Amino acid sequence: MLIRMMQSGEQTALLPLVLDLWPDAGDYQFADDLKLVAEAAGAIAGFAFVTIRPFSNACVEAPCPHLEGWYVAPDHRRRGIGRALVAACEDWCRAQGFSELGSDVLLDNRASLEAHGRLGFEPVERVQYFRKGL
Ligand SMILES: CC(C)(COP(=O)(O)OP(=O)(O)OC[C@H]1O[C@@H](n2cnc3c(N)ncnc32)[C@H](O)[C@@H]1OP(=O)(O)O)[C@@H](O)C(=O)NCCC(=O)NCCS
Repeated sequence: MLIRMMQSGEQTALLPLVLDLWPDAGDYQFADDLKLVAEAAGAIAGFAFVTIRPFSNACVEAPCPHLEGWYVAPDHRRRGIGRALVAACEDWCRAQGFSELGSDVLLDNRASLEAHGRLGFEPVERVQYFRKGL
């Protein structure tokens, strides 16, 4: 397994994985500040994207890095790839001078909630989004 920066020209190869995580993201711009991929058996097995947000409800510092996307293909899960991706994100964030990494998870995503906990993320707050059509 290799964790490395996503290379220019890999958008097409990554898009199916992005769409598995975010089915509505067909026009994903890959504009995140850090785009890491995991390579396993010669194929892209997962990714982690981080942006530097002006602020995040998850963090004390502002600005702060936020884990925007974290995904490992089903056949590759539970083998440490997700952990390795997040560890590489943490290294990058530390190198940028940050001391926190934020993230968010839908409350029904039990696997991700559990995995965040195993990786040392601490729950901060729960939010209900609302929408009113105008
Ligand atoms: C969340 C996800 C990225 C984890 O990737 P992964 O490669 O399976 O993770 P790892 O194998 O590195 O596991 C990391 C830790 O989480 C735990 N973990 C992973 N999946 C788990 C699950 N389904 N249930 C319970 N614990 C789990 C592992 O046991 C491990 O802890 P440990 O090292 O202390 O044993 C992967 O399950 C995934 O892509 N899920 C679908 C997309 C998603 O929900 N992404 C997150 C959106 S917020």
